[in-house]
Amino acid sequence: MQSIKKITVLGSGIMGHGIAQVSAMAGYNVILRDIESSFLDKAMEKVKWSLSKLEEKQKITHAEAETILKRITPEVNLEWSLKDTDLLIEAVPEDLGLKKKVYADVDRFAEEKTVYASNTSTLPISEMAVLTGRPERFIGLHFFNPPQLMRLVEVIPGHSTNQHTVATALDFVLRVGKEPILCRKDVAGFIVNRIFIPLVHEAAYRLDRNGVSMTQIDSAVKYKMGFPMGIFELADYTGLDVIFKATSEMYSRDNRIVNPHPKVKELVDAKNFGQKTGKGFYEYGGSTYERVNLTEEEAAKYDPIGLVAVAANNAAWLISNGVCTKEDVDKALRLGMGLKTELFRTVETFGVRNVVEKLREMTAKYGSRYEPDVYLQSYKSK
Ligand code: 3HC
Repeated sequence: MQSIKKITVLGSGIMGHGIAQVSAMAGYNVILRDIESSFLDKAMEKVKWSLSKLEEKQKITHAEAETILKRITPEVNLEWSLKDTDLLIEAVPEDLGLKKKVYADVDRFAEEKTVYASNTSTLPISEMAVLTGRPERFIGLHFFNPPQLMRLVEVIPGHSTNQHTVATALDFVLRVGKEPILCRKDVAGFIVNRIFIPLVHEAAYRLDRNGVSMTQIDSAVKYKMGFPMGIFELADYTGLDVIFKATSEMYSRDNRIVNPHPKVKELVDAKNFGQKTGKGFYEYGGSTYERVNLTEEEAAKYDPIGLVAVAANNAAWLISNGVCTKEDVDKALRLGMGLKTELFRTVETFGVRNVVEKLREMTAKYGSRYEPDVYLQSYKSK
């Protein structure tokens, strides 16, 4: 295993600045690199805001916040930012063409010892690895938004990734105080997004099909499915631009995984990216952290069995295809999406037979993508 001292994070957006912060909080010196200093100024403001929140909640002291901040150096120059780096974490926008260009530049300057990790949410790790001169030392390290609060990191080896790199990545994740989950196959969406992204679109179809309101669906997701947020609220919070790119990527890899609802594209085309632009599925007072008002009264008006069924079916696919275990699914959804109730516990509450029956009904009405997975069909309640 390689000892990591210095880290470079490429891209200072929502994920990049958060990853830089958690690394600095664990004592690492971090270079946060972006192409324009104005992007870096905004990112450092966000780090300061987050540190002040953690200070307010007495998770860190003021002196600690100052030390953490000093460990992060914003930098525009790529060559300088890669000097002496042990671990590079790439968090640039999700566009394979852009990543190709970034890795070509990185390869020119990175030192021999540098391990490459990508925070991609859906792009194939094995395909990205071959864009670089070191595919055996390339790995996926997928953090969750907000990286400062979500404890999960998916670790995804590509076909060529060597064991030394896997061990280095797992050790790093533990050192930054996160919980790693090894995604055993480089499948579209890995574990969490394979469940999360199709659920957003399914919820949008439910609006059309069930004649309910967004807050009714979201309240039911929160109060009957154990999510900390509604699904539309979470999509707005994650960023509809991010959701849209992840959807397109997953759909292009296998069009059965997700059924893109036109509303997401419509919102993205109008530059309504969610909370960060003040409008997405919902409208917000500004572009900063804000919650939608969801209630148990609203939740009582909607039965989310169709949403439970779709989430559970995708989870079942991951298990029956050897991507991860049921325990991994539970852990991933708890630590990556803040689920308060295990997904299969919710399935049991709704009744396994009812859930499978619901999928059969949806298959008959809307097509074979809803066919119940074999794992779900044979699932026995505990
Ligand atoms: N740093 C520090 N503090 C933060 C913060 C940050 N980055 N972001 C929010 N906070 C603060 C808030 O300001 C709030 O503080 P306050 O109490 O002073 O107002 C506090 O944390 C959160 O409290 P809330 O009562 O508002 O909300 P919750 O208790 O529900 O926690 C949450 C917020 C952790 C975001 C929780 O709702 C949650 O887990 N939501 C789900 C998030 C999720 O699913 N993330 C994964 C998305 S998928 C993804 O990222 C993959 C990608 O590839 C698409």
